[in-house]
Amino acid sequence: MCGIIGYIGSDDARKIVTDGLLALEYRGYDSAGITYCTNDPSHPVKTVKTTGKVMNLIEKLNDHHEDLVPFSGIGHTRWATHGGVTETNSHPHSFGNVTLIHNGIIENYRELSDKFAGEGKFPVSQTDTEIAAMTIDSFYNGDAYEAIQKASEVLDGSYAFCIIFSDRPDKIYATRKNSPLIAAHCSKGSFVASDIVAIIDYTKDYFILPENYIAELTADNITVYDTSGNIFNPKTIHVDWDIAAAKKGGYEHFMLKEIHEQPDAVINTVSPRIVDGLPDFSSDNVPDELFRDINRIVITACGTAMHAGMLGKYMIEKYARIPVSVDIASEFRYSDPIVDKHTLVIAISQSGETADTLAAVKLAKTLGAKTLAVVNVKGSIIALESDHVLYTHAGPEISVASTKAYTVQLSLMYLIAYKTAMVNNLMSDEEAAAKTKSLTDSVRNMKKVIDMDEELSYITQKLKKADNIFYLGRGLDYAIACEGSLKLKEISYIHSEAYAAGELKHGTISLITDNIPVIAFATQDNVYSKVISNVVEVRSRGAYVILITKSGEHVDTTLCDHHITLPQMDEEFTPFCTAVILQYLAYFTAVRRDLNVDQPRNLAKSVTVE
Ligand code: AGP
Repeated sequence: MCGIIGYIGSDDARKIVTDGLLALEYRGYDSAGITYCTNDPSHPVKTVKTTGKVMNLIEKLNDHHEDLVPFSGIGHTRWATHGGVTETNSHPHSFGNVTLIHNGIIENYRELSDKFAGEGKFPVSQTDTEIAAMTIDSFYNGDAYEAIQKASEVLDGSYAFCIIFSDRPDKIYATRKNSPLIAAHCSKGSFVASDIVAIIDYTKDYFILPENYIAELTADNITVYDTSGNIFNPKTIHVDWDIAAAKKGGYEHFMLKEIHEQPDAVINTVSPRIVDGLPDFSSDNVPDELFRDINRIVITACGTAMHAGMLGKYMIEKYARIPVSVDIASEFRYSDPIVDKHTLVIAISQSGETADTLAAVKLAKTLGAKTLAVVNVKGSIIALESDHVLYTHAGPEISVASTKAYTVQLSLMYLIAYKTAMVNNLMSDEEAAAKTKSLTDSVRNMKKVIDMDEELSYITQKLKKADNIFYLGRGLDYAIACEGSLKLKEISYIHSEAYAAGELKHGTISLITDNIPVIAFATQDNVYSKVISNVVEVRSRGAYVILITKSGEHVDTTLCDHHITLPQMDEEFTPFCTAVILQYLAYFTAVRRDLNVDQPRNLAKSVTVE
């Protein structure tokens, strides 16, 4: 969702800010804008905005030739919430002395707007953001810190702000509440951004601006003030990937690159947590006690991360015999959840920014639960907010459709399941060592499936023409079916549903008619024959069946139109391979439909609003 970048320093701020906006495109947006400052005494602060892509903004800026090099600027990609996709509603917004960009939602903007109307002040846009600019301006008497501080006492909701005061363009101010914002200083100057991807060209060291603190950026340094106005020294975080990881590296799309990166990402995530062949989270400061003395585990997450949680539930319940519920984060918060000090709440998130998941973690903590985050982005809000964190090491995931973040989440859920079983004396060291080895070995099979791209691409010739597609599976395969359906919907725009294969006959089978594609996963021995029976049911109603099984299964070829065989493997680890299959099916279908694979319509990579 909305992307923010601010820069002040020795280089061309217009260029640095627009480059940053291009890097932030992956977050999802529908308009873009920039405010930049030069030493032009008659017109020091200029704003250019547009709907559509950042390239439109760059083209528009090319019509505004500058003789003077802009020394500071703030840029924004907007994902519309309040007010339609128009140039007027695009950020930056200005009022009086204040120009700002914003990620988040000001929940009390109507009340504030009414108050300003009573004073004869009216916004020009329909946005909550302009009301925030009016609020800060209303408190401004030449003291920026005081104005921002007072405004933060009045503004409800979530925000990351980057602010320029027109009478002091030699400084940029930033603050945040419940929305992400990082900052960094290097030889080129000072930066503030939604995430490190925007500034990785310049530095790998950054810090997270603490909630409600205010950062003052100049070309020479960044000063952070706490809520009492004292100077605060933030802790620096170092990223261990470089710019190449955030580029396409010769692949046609980020999604394809990220599918290929999965074996390495899984190994990078799992290896540091295996000591003497056993799962070990001590280097993460996650004590074994966390998995003891609990009578319940709640996994909370959204979208793909939630589907990783579904697989986690199967694994934990199977081996640790502790009841696990998987709660959609946006529902958890409003469901009066049964959570107490004997509950472990595991929040899974790639971005670590998802507002619903963050709210779920905060609620779980107030109810006394222990919280563990499984997060990909280092130092993200969910990681900071949780009692403990296990970072996945997928590197930056740029495509909106999550792929490698999902499989690394799976790999950690497997390790958590084995660890929980071990500390509760339900799994011996020998068994845990064997399981852990099989987990790392499954990466070899993943690579083999990654090499099946031509076969899987061929199948999508049929899928690309479908209006509806069904995914079926039982047990682990049902969780995989859910992820397959989501992936297909989000990037190919084809309607799809995932069903627990046995449930189809309780209503939905009425939708199965001639030639409807049904993708059936049948990789689990205990339900294999049941899934095959369900396949027979849809086949006899004319479905076009794609059947996925392990190798060694004798499949009646009249049962399906395509039979995809997985490499030889233990059934417990098939999700690492079926994940690749479902990702390829969605990817090639979207490519054949000539769609924007990496930035599907209406979607944002990080969903920072509830
Ligand atoms: C996955 O392809 C989606 N883009 C989406 O469902 C995503 O997994 C969800 O929004 C959760 O994001 P998070 O992992 O960053 O919390």
